[in-house]
Parts: sequence; C-alpha cells; structure tokens
Amino acid sequence: MSQDGGFGLGEIDTSRPHPARIYDYLLGGKDNYEVDRQAGDRLAEAAPEVRAGLRANRAFMRRAVRYVVGSGVRQVLDIGTGLPTSPNVHEVAQALAPDVRVAYVDNDPIVAAHANALLSSSGTTSVMLGDLRDPRSVLDDPVVRRTIDFDEPVALLLVAVLHFLSDAEDPAGAVATLRDALAPGSFLVLSHATGDFADRTAAQAVYSKATATLNLRSRAGVERFFDGFDLVEPGLAQVPFWRPDGPPEPGSDGIGFYGGVARRAG
Ligand SMILES: C[S@@+](CC[C@H](N)C(=O)[O-])C[C@H]1O[C@@H](n2cnc3c(N)ncnc32)[C@H](O)[C@@H]1O
Repeated sequence: MSQDGGFGLGEIDTSRPHPARIYDYLLGGKDNYEVDRQAGDRLAEAAPEVRAGLRANRAFMRRAVRYVVGSGVRQVLDIGTGLPTSPNVHEVAQALAPDVRVAYVDNDPIVAAHANALLSSSGTTSVMLGDLRDPRSVLDDPVVRRTIDFDEPVALLLVAVLHFLSDAEDPAGAVATLRDALAPGSFLVLSHATGDFADRTAAQAVYSKATATLNLRSRAGVERFFDGFDLVEPGLAQVPFWRPDGPPEPGSDGIGFYGGVARRAG
C-alpha cells in the first residue's frame, strides 16, 4: 500500500523490537522504543563492532549511490529504506544530479510515518509501504510506477535488508523478480550481514524475538544474489573496502557486512 494509503503511528508495534528502530538506535537516532534499545544493547554486546559496521554500511550506501548516479542512472528504487538518517539516499543522489527520482519502500509503518523527512521539496521522491517478500506488488504499485519508469535504467538498492529474509522466504527469487523488471544499464546495490569474520550466533539470537529474523550468509550465499548482473570492481567486498574514499578505519577487516554493486547483464 502506498503512503497515500494513510498509515498512522497507531499501527506501529512497540511491544517487539523492529529492525528499522534497532538500526536507528545503534546509529544514534531518536526514533526507537525501549524494546529496540534493549535489543540494540544486546546486539552491541554480542557483536562489539556492530555500530562501526552500521556506519560503514551507511558510508558504503553513500559511495555506491554516487557511483551509480555518476554512471548516468537517474532513478533509484530503495527497498528496505530504514528510518531517515541524514544524508538519505535522495539527498546523496540529488546533490550530484537534482533530477534523480527516488522511490522508497519499506515494510515497517514507522518508516512511512516519517515520510516527510524522506520526501524532497522538488517532488521527485516517493515513499510506500511494501514488502520485499512480495516483489510483484512493489513493482506494480502505482506510487512506485509514478516515480520509476522501468523502461529506463534504475538503481535497485537492497542495502542491509536481504538478511531479514530467511531462505524459506526465497530472497533469491525476490531479487530475480526485481532484476527481470530492470532495463539494461540498471544497477543492483546490495549489502548483507555475514558471519564469515566472527561467530555471530549470539547476535542472531537477539533477533529471535524481533519482527524479522537475522539470516547471516557466507560470501558465496551473498554472491548468488548477483545472478544475471556483472559485479563492478572490486566485486563483493567487506563494505569499508568497497571503493573507499580514504584509508579504511582500524578494525575494518572485522566488519560483518559484504557490499557490492553490479550492472544488469545483457
Ligand atoms: C537495517 S535497515 C537498513 C536501512 C538502509 N537500507 C541502510 O542500509 O541504511 C533494514 C530495513 O529493512 C526493512 N525491512 C526488513 N524486512 C523488510 C521486507 N521484507 N520488506 C521491506 N523492508 C524490509 C526494515 O524495516 C528496515 O527499515
């Protein structure tokens, strides 16, 4: 359903931790509740580098958006938007090219409730409540269709969201459905949590009572999401090492997020 559908704060479940609000808390935001702060603290205990990891993930998103806009793409479909954290995707993109259009999609009503912070004054952004597990309805949504012309290249952002889908929820199938809707010259920007660099069993357990589970995947498991795309240099990398602007911070080799950018093949 689109943001026009009128979602209110009343539909926000404050009894269970939500990924968007845990993330907001760990990034220093204010849009979170006690359950989210407790879950965030447990996560930071289980995985001490989690805050640095989330900051590095955000910095990857900014560099990747600059890369795709620099490559000429003028439309962004950002699924798993998260709560507004400045600079947001449209601010990064429109600083380079003011005509970039951005459609934000998230399945958490709290994100839609903060839509005003995500909408640009030029009317080139939209926000809709939608679920990555139902990619067809995202693609067919009238608000998305008003913002995104699928006959033109699109940068599809799946940044720190696919790990909230279990294998049973078929994340690869969701990515493939979205991929097949993308015109040649489109890009996939993806990041994903991994346990390849440390045992993250305790971190996963924190999400067992949350509204979504945390599904860590190996390098090979994440690379599979790029089927039908060609990864640009340097390929799939830990996020601090994907085209860094400067020397990565100490401890970057322990960051449990892979990131990559790929061009739609064909
Ligand atoms: C960790 S945040 C990432 C935010 C942003 N992409 C970033 O990397 O800074 C993950 C977001 O994905 C959203 N999310 C989780 N499962 C989703 C689903 N099935 N469909 C759409 N959004 C989902 C959560 O609500 C949350 O806002």
